[in-house]
Amino acid sequence: MSRLVYVLNGPNLNLLGKRQPHIYGHVTLADVEAECRELAGELKLDLRFHQSNREYEIIDWIHAAREEAGGIVINPAAFTHTSVAILDALNTFEPPVVEVHISNVHKREAFRHHSYVSLRADGVIAGFGTQGYSLALQRVARLIDEKAA
Ligand code: DQA
Repeated sequence: MSRLVYVLNGPNLNLLGKRQPHIYGHVTLADVEAECRELAGELKLDLRFHQSNREYEIIDWIHAAREEAGGIVINPAAFTHTSVAILDALNTFEPPVVEVHISNVHKREAFRHHSYVSLRADGVIAGFGTQGYSLALQRVARLIDEKAA
């Protein structure tokens, strides 16, 4: 089982830290990537960390992950609530998938309560701020370890 994990981020997350900080906080996506890389080192995972505002790029990364990755952590951002295409792509990927939302989407507008990605995700983390990424990586590492055992 590959110890390479893709961490994928959807639209507007490039503005993390500047965008609606009362909801998403002041931590930037570069900070999140640095934290993920540090933790990945401890968990002996390799990481590919990407963000895009374009749906097709996220789909292409999921296809690339199919070839080499042992897990995916994904914050699909607004595509969570709209994208059958990202769900279909994730359904072609067999290893663990953990969905992350920085905010507690269930405390927010009704349109954020439905996630297409949750139909595939093995676990969902919401409302833990950017710490959710670390929790998701820990979970993926555990699932990889369990499969290898
Ligand atoms: C988000 C929640 C989504 O509803 C929203 O569109 C985002 C970010 C989160 O991380 O809390 O862009 O995925």
